[in-house]
Formats: sequence, C-alpha cells, structure tokens
Amino acid sequence: MTTSHDIIVVGGGGAGLRAAIAAAETIPGIDVAVVSKVYPMRSHTVSAEGGAAGAIAEDDSLDEHAYDTISGGDWLCDQDAVEIFVKDAPKELLRLEHWGCPWSRQPDGRIAVRPFGGMKKQRTWFAADKTGFHLLHTLFQTSLKYDGVHRYDEWYVSKLLVDDGRVQGVVAVELTTGRIETITAKAVILTTGGCGRVFPFTTNAAIKTGDGMALAYRAGAPLKDMEFIQYHPTGLPFTGILITEAARAEGGYLLNKDGYRYLQDYNLGTPTPTPVLRSMELGPRDRLSQAFEHEVAKGRTIDTPYGPVVHLDLRHLGAKLIDTKLPFVRELCLKYQNIDPVTELVPVRPVVHYTMGGVHTDIDGATPVDGLFAAGEVACVSINGANRLGSNSLPELLVFGTRAGRAAAWHVFRHGKEPTQAVLSQAADERRRLQKDVLEHDGGDERISAIRTSMQTTMEESAGIYRSGDSLAKAADTLGELQERLPRAALDDRSLAFNTELIAALELSAMLDVAESIVASALRREESRGAHQRTDFPARDDNRFLAHSLAVREADGSCRVDYLPVTITRWAPGERVYGR
Ligand code: FUM
Repeated sequence: MTTSHDIIVVGGGGAGLRAAIAAAETIPGIDVAVVSKVYPMRSHTVSAEGGAAGAIAEDDSLDEHAYDTISGGDWLCDQDAVEIFVKDAPKELLRLEHWGCPWSRQPDGRIAVRPFGGMKKQRTWFAADKTGFHLLHTLFQTSLKYDGVHRYDEWYVSKLLVDDGRVQGVVAVELTTGRIETITAKAVILTTGGCGRVFPFTTNAAIKTGDGMALAYRAGAPLKDMEFIQYHPTGLPFTGILITEAARAEGGYLLNKDGYRYLQDYNLGTPTPTPVLRSMELGPRDRLSQAFEHEVAKGRTIDTPYGPVVHLDLRHLGAKLIDTKLPFVRELCLKYQNIDPVTELVPVRPVVHYTMGGVHTDIDGATPVDGLFAAGEVACVSINGANRLGSNSLPELLVFGTRAGRAAAWHVFRHGKEPTQAVLSQAADERRRLQKDVLEHDGGDERISAIRTSMQTTMEESAGIYRSGDSLAKAADTLGELQERLPRAALDDRSLAFNTELIAALELSAMLDVAESIVASALRREESRGAHQRTDFPARDDNRFLAHSLAVREADGSCRVDYLPVTITRWAPGERVYGR
C-alpha cells in the first residue's frame, strides 16, 4: 500500500516534534507525517536530566556561550553554526516556557540557571532533574494542536527512497501488524537520535541504534565526525543509567578509592568547598572520563563485578537540596542501585552517552541529498565539535529542529515534486526484501544476539575512551567479518504482530554500518582531540586535522573517509584551559 504526505519526519523525539511544529507553522495546511518506532513520549529525549543551556543571566553573554562551546569542542565546531545556536537557544527555551514547560524558578520568580560542565557561566535552564520529560511533554502536547501533523506511532523505517537525486519517501514496517508500507513525500527529516547502542555500556535507551544515520549513509549522505563518541563520567555500574552532571553542578564530589578528589591531579583545578565553574568536577566530560582511565591505570579505583568505579559523594548536600533539585538522582540510586545518596556514596563510571558526529548537514539541516534534512543527535551541523558540553544538546535539537522543519517546508513549497515511477519500484523491491530475505529467510546458522554482542565488545575494547591504530585496524577487520555473518542470521519468529526479532535484525544491520563509519573515521584521524584520544598520536594536530571527517559509503559497502574544512569565524584555535 502507498500513502503520501508533504514531509515525513522520521523520529518522534524532541527534534522530530520541534521540526514538525515548525513545518506546520511555516506553511499552514502542510501535511506532515511523524513516523516513530516508539510512541513519541517514549523517545530518548524523555530521559534527559540536567538541563538546557541558553545565556540569560545578567553576567552572561552569547559570545561567552559560543566560546565555551567552541573551546569545549576542541575547535572542531563550525563557528557559524555555533553563533546561530547561542543566539536562538534562549529564544527557543522561552518559547517552550510559553507552551507550558515548567522551568525551575529563582525565589523571585525568574528562570533559575545552574552551572554545568565546561561552561564558565551559570546558563543551564532546568526543570528539577527531569528536564527532558518536561521538554518532550511540552512539545508533544503542542504538536497535537496542528491538524496537519499525522503520527505513525510504532513504525520502523527500513529505507529511504531516493531517485533522480532526491529523496521521495520511505518504506516502513508497522510494528503492531507487520504491514510494510510505502510512504512517499517531497521532503524527509531525520530525527532518530544517536547510536549509543553500538557500544555495550551506554546511557542510551535500547531504541538508539543509529537507524537514521544508517538510512542517510546508505542513501548517499556522508556521516560527519563519527569518531567522536562522548563518555559521560557518571553512569551507574551495570545499568549505565545516567547520574546527571547536575549532581556535580549542585556540589557533588568525585572520590577515588582513597576518598581523594582525584581530579585535582589532572589540570582541572584545586578542591574548594563549593563548585567552581569549569573546575574539578565541572570540567568537560572528555577530560573527566580520561582522568578516570588514568585512575584505573594507577590502581586507585574500586573493583566491582561491573568494572572499576569511583564514588560520587552527595552526602554533604543534604536531603533538602537533593529532594528539591535532584529528586530523580535519589530515585534512580534507590531503585537501581539500592543506595541512598543522602547517606551513602554512589558508585559511578564513564558510560557512552552521546554521538558528536552524525549526518552531515548545513545550518538549515539540509544534507547533500536533495530534500533530505536531519536535526538533533542524528545530525552533525556541527556545534559540538570533538566534545559536546553538557546541556547543549536539548537547545540544539530545538534550534536546529526548528530550522530543519522550516527549511523542509519551504523546500516542499518551492521545489516539491511527485514521486517517480522508479522510486515506486524501489519501494516494491524493499518490501520484497523484508518479506523474503529477512522475515522468511531459512537455514541460518547465526544468532542476532551473538553478532550484536561481538560488535559491542569490539567497539568498547577498540574504539573506547583511548584508541590506537592497531586496536582500530583490528576492529575494522572484526566488523567486516560480522557484516559477512549477518545475512546468515535467520529469524525464529515468523509472526507479523510485534515481531521484535525482525526489528532487532534491521537495527543490527544499521548499527554495523554505523560502527564501521566510527572505526574508519577514528583510524584515519591520526591525532588526539576532544573525545578522540589516540595513544599512538597523543597530540592535537591542527595542521593535518583541523577538519571534519566525512564517512562516505562506497557502492561495494566499504567506507571512504574524506575531509571538510572547519568554519572559523571569530575564535582562532587555542589551548583548552580549565581549572583557573
Ligand atoms: O548529565 C546530564 O544531565 C546530561 C546532560 C546532557 O547530556 O546534556
């Protein structure tokens, strides 16, 4: 069956809903489909905790937000994009306030802002420590006001339809029935989030399998800066559940096994009774995660069945502050670790949290494929460079979700065309592939779970916080072997209703492509910058690598890595200095 809309938004999280609203506001009456593999309120945006950055404090400025972002990103951010971002972020956050987002307040009623890692001013807006939940709820309820926004909840997009140099729709599977449908459109916006599930230990929900990145990559849009994977310094061991940076912003300490605030040994400042901006526990995430690895090497961490940990100490904050500003932290620690942070130390370790790279876009979310846009974590615009600062991702998805929604709407208005015959037969081929090659495929001797586990272990061991040419080359070989094994994995579940095994197979295929792009890009970048630390090339090398990597999929499925200059407007590359 074929249906059609003007725009398809793939992904129903923060970026997707913001893009859909922006498109509906731009061209009244435009027909927008939001196709999401989960009900929108179950999208990963819901789990964002600490807050959203936007300069509003009297002692703050847009330039300071821009500078913190650019230096935090180790000068790999495109500065034109950052300038747009810092200018529009407070406006977007205020717009959310008008749509009903319950931002936390100061006693006099003004918006409260808290410090956050790598930011030298207090600029992180928050709704206690459930910011993502409130932000997503606000966007969801706002999207319901637009008659032109139609939802396909629990549909999985398996292919982008591209012909005549332009995107013309998608093929998608309805999870409840197994129905495979062609949905055509004049523009498609990818907003599917990141790919943390390529790694075994992540804060990312099970749904974050890099689907949008793989869709774009296979359709001819390059993936930019994929080697930059962010580890958040404080995940609960075993589950990987995020303990928000807000816990350190409110004054929490990180202690090694000797009860020592070890960050003072890593050029991140000296201990003070209260948090000092950009210092110690409020340093940037890449530096804190690297410091943890050094503590492990020095034997100063605590061994647990789930790997080495350090302790997060919140006890001195007291029950009142924790219950007011960090209630979710307390709830998570109690429920998932059986620990009360009011009286006990919380074990934590670095955990994969965010993909700085993503689908290559311009400042309006446009990719090199005509009519294809991307925004949010799936995209790389790029404002995050080699290391994103905490609390920049929520405003990023608002600012660039809006821009992508508007640009897509104008694209439809000015250049929208009907689908070609060739694209409809492409869709028929994809429907046949899903039915015959995946769902009815017989005789396989491989298991999806075994291939997935092997991929995740390989990525953690070879492309983690520290990597080397040797480890990456080995990972590239292993991933190649896993790609060969995947077609031999047959499904046991042949039913159509909620066939989660079918979706797991499609997600794994996407993750393998994305993992290959991460490893290929990391192998080519012979320097250390931000979250990409090469033990064999420990220094930053601006002469060779002040450039974005672009992973391009060749016709034979292999990955070619090209480079693109970084846009520098006003801030010349310099040293990253913290702790002063
Ligand atoms: O720690 C946190 O609350 C995470 C925030 C972020 O990734 O922006």
